[in-house]
Amino acid sequence: MTPLEQETLTRIGPGTRMGALLRRYWVPAAASGELAAGEARRVRLFGEDLVLYRDGTGRPALVGERCPHRGASLAHGTIDDEGIRCPYHGWKLDGQGRCLETPTEPAGSRLREHVRACAYPVEELGGLVFAYLGPAPAPLLPRYDLFVWSGVLRDVGRALLPCNWLQIMENSVDPHHVEWLHGHHLGQARAARGLPAPRLYGRRHVEVGFDRFEHGIIKRRVLEGGSREDDDWRVGHPLVFPLMLRVGSHHRGRFQIRVPVDDTTTMHYWYSVYRTPEGVAVPEQSEVPVYDVPWRDDRGEHRVDFIDAQDIMTWVTQGPIADRTAETLGDSDRGIVLYRRMLLEQLRLVEGGDDPLGIVRDPARNETIELPQEREKYGDGAAFLLEAMELGHARFSPLWPQVRQLLGDSP
Ligand code: FES
Ligand SMILES: [Fe+2]
Repeated sequence: MTPLEQETLTRIGPGTRMGALLRRYWVPAAASGELAAGEARRVRLFGEDLVLYRDGTGRPALVGERCPHRGASLAHGTIDDEGIRCPYHGWKLDGQGRCLETPTEPAGSRLREHVRACAYPVEELGGLVFAYLGPAPAPLLPRYDLFVWSGVLRDVGRALLPCNWLQIMENSVDPHHVEWLHGHHLGQARAARGLPAPRLYGRRHVEVGFDRFEHGIIKRRVLEGGSREDDDWRVGHPLVFPLMLRVGSHHRGRFQIRVPVDDTTTMHYWYSVYRTPEGVAVPEQSEVPVYDVPWRDDRGEHRVDFIDAQDIMTWVTQGPIADRTAETLGDSDRGIVLYRRMLLEQLRLVEGGDDPLGIVRDPARNETIELPQEREKYGDGAAFLLEAMELGHARFSPLWPQVRQLLGDSP
């Protein structure tokens, strides 16, 4: 890859080509539970400093952090039913970027009519607040299955990671790493410390396959001792273009959502949905809980004692922006090549004036968008679920004891 291709693929700040493609998609700006009515918080998305707040009526809004008057931070503003008031001279702005009041101007001033503040559409779904930073008209917020299913439990894990979004996404089309990173290498390290070594993660990949479909790329694998009849190949699971991975099994579906904060920082969400076995009632959830996934130890070093921290260790140690001019790709990297090719191809589509892959504008097609995902993962659904939960980020969730109990430890 040339330095120019590397720059084109990875940079997402304002005015960049990849930034223009990724801004066509709704991305989570926060979890709903993090934002009480009347509260504001700073968020950074695609290299832009923003303020997310919930007005007095409960509506979320996302505006540029700097006041259009003289640039003070709106993060310290006061919020009412209509919008947010800047702490410096009291200008009041609404969630559409209109200026409602300029109290320091002379009576009868029409200055406010000429003010346009930076504001972006936001919508809530399934316990997340989504934002759209692309050009109008905004497409529909896709109602993917996990966001809309009823009768399930949900939680949201998150971690702010000091690396570029692309190397994290590339991991989603890299099946072989599961066998090595999670299976052999760190499995042995765990065993040496007396911790349970992954039983199912270490199986050898006999065949991997990648197919384009209407929402991205389906990833398939045949594991040693299995066949193309297994769900791992027959169904597979998708990279939902461009910033999500869908994984799980029948009892747990998960999106891993990678939100570019800036070129060298990514907010990683683990959005999980738990289905209980037939006949087990699901308790009502008043709010989707949010938890931090602790990927560093007390000394600030990478933890490698659970699956997700192992992934994070590899993403972060690839560097702030992995240098693709120095890499050596092999046949096993076919999925990565396909994903990069799709990013460049979709970027050109947008530059030609078209909608890129996966954009939804027809409400009739947006009631629930069901995505493919294995029921029986790794040929051993129940055992795999338990292993994945024991060895993964789920145990840091406040729902962990409840989910474990609901699934009866033998789903
Ligand atoms: S800087 Fe915000 S009102 Fe003056
Ligand atoms: Fe992994």
